[in-house]
Amino acid sequence: MKCGATHKKWAGRCDACGEWNSITEEAPLAAGPSGKTLGANKGRKVPLGDLAEIDKPLPRMVSGIDEFDRVLGGGMVPASVILVGGDPGIGKSTLLLQAAASFARTGKKAIYVSGEEAPSQIRMRAQRLGLTNAPVKLAAETNLRDIITTLEAERPDVAIIDSVQTMWADNVTSAPGSVSQVRATAHELVTFAKRRGVAIILVGHVTKDGQIAGPRVVEHMVDTVVYFEGERGHQFRILRAVKNRFGPADEIGVFEMTGAGLQQVTNPSALFLSDRENQASGSVVFAGMEGTRPVLVEIQALVAQSSLASPRRNVVGWDSSRLSMILAVLESRCGIGFGNMDVYLNIAGGMRISEPAADLAVAAALISARQDKPLEKDTVVFGEISLSGALRPIAQADSRLKEAKKLGFSAAYAPSGVKLAGNSGMKVQTTNDVGGFIAACFGEIDA
Ligand code: TYD
Ligand code: MG
Repeated sequence: MKCGATHKKWAGRCDACGEWNSITEEAPLAAGPSGKTLGANKGRKVPLGDLAEIDKPLPRMVSGIDEFDRVLGGGMVPASVILVGGDPGIGKSTLLLQAAASFARTGKKAIYVSGEEAPSQIRMRAQRLGLTNAPVKLAAETNLRDIITTLEAERPDVAIIDSVQTMWADNVTSAPGSVSQVRATAHELVTFAKRRGVAIILVGHVTKDGQIAGPRVVEHMVDTVVYFEGERGHQFRILRAVKNRFGPADEIGVFEMTGAGLQQVTNPSALFLSDRENQASGSVVFAGMEGTRPVLVEIQALVAQSSLASPRRNVVGWDSSRLSMILAVLESRCGIGFGNMDVYLNIAGGMRISEPAADLAVAAALISARQDKPLEKDTVVFGEISLSGALRPIAQADSRLKEAKKLGFSAAYAPSGVKLAGNSGMKVQTTNDVGGFIAACFGEIDA
């Protein structure tokens, strides 16, 4: 039952996820008293408040690590629970130790509970990060009952639990890391956070298929879910909010993993662009938005004759079904086929893009690679492509252009109908559909 599905009886294989030997027995929730519905029993009257009453801004605890605070919507809200997910070894413990030290230095009481490392190991890490003088309290413990008793006695402002998979509640029989344990642990800690006003950060390791603790049982219980992601080979790490009850989701913070811990990257655009001196074919700069911030990223495509019956479609950092869609649109609307060619698409710098506005930049990279024809220098591209081949206007064009201008770009391709407020100082060329864009950008193309 790794996927969270329930079965009435034991089976060797889960019908829902196909996993073998993953079903474990769990006691069902106690049935209601003598089969009556809840409404038949007298409950307590809950006090009601006016909607208009709640107008105070939420108090925030700011760590001082701007990239971290912004992702959380301007700092941590007291009594909130945050889940930080990510691959093992990506840098979650490092980030949270740095955040804990930063909180502690601003006079907040921070406790770091590790179920994975001994205090001496954490101290060694702290030494490497230059944080040994920060007044963070450490504990190495996995027993949830003891941890909650400790937190109850200490009443910190922030408690970090690293990781939720190593903790175990003694009232649940299954092993640490199992769905029931993770669920029970998260539930206890969320309840504690709300009752005592302690902000809690839970660390969760993500399994290969991109889920926290096997199933996403914790995500709906907590207030905020952030993922810490990046490619192993790259030093860049991106903290991404995917759910936030107290701020905008899809905000990102960018860090660089160095020998002395994670450093903030305040100008991510410069980082995701490779050297642009020699403009190569297949490389296009996309002017994107990540949350409230414009970010320029380089999209790289490689197209090669294929010797395979079904040619390769390799994508890193983008949705592969979206790539198939773009290829289909180019083929059927513009007559530009990729049928017997391998296609590789890569977002530079280990970045991952989910914005549909990248469609046009992807199309440009594909055609540039196919024709071995570089795009004009200092040009950015953005726009969504619909199945009809028409270009759809996208939001926040002005911010994108401003960022591009700031980084030395001078021209842009965009969908017509895009709203532009003022003079950005950029030469903006707009087109109605992909065909028009290709003609404007690459001229005549043989199919
Ligand atoms: P860690 O925070 O332990 O990852 P997680 O908690 O997500 O499993 O990060 C471990 C990696 O980070 C490890 O491969 C070494 C690297 N690292 C640095 O490059 N510099 C540093 O200063 C630190 C502390 C770790
Ligand atoms: Mg760790």
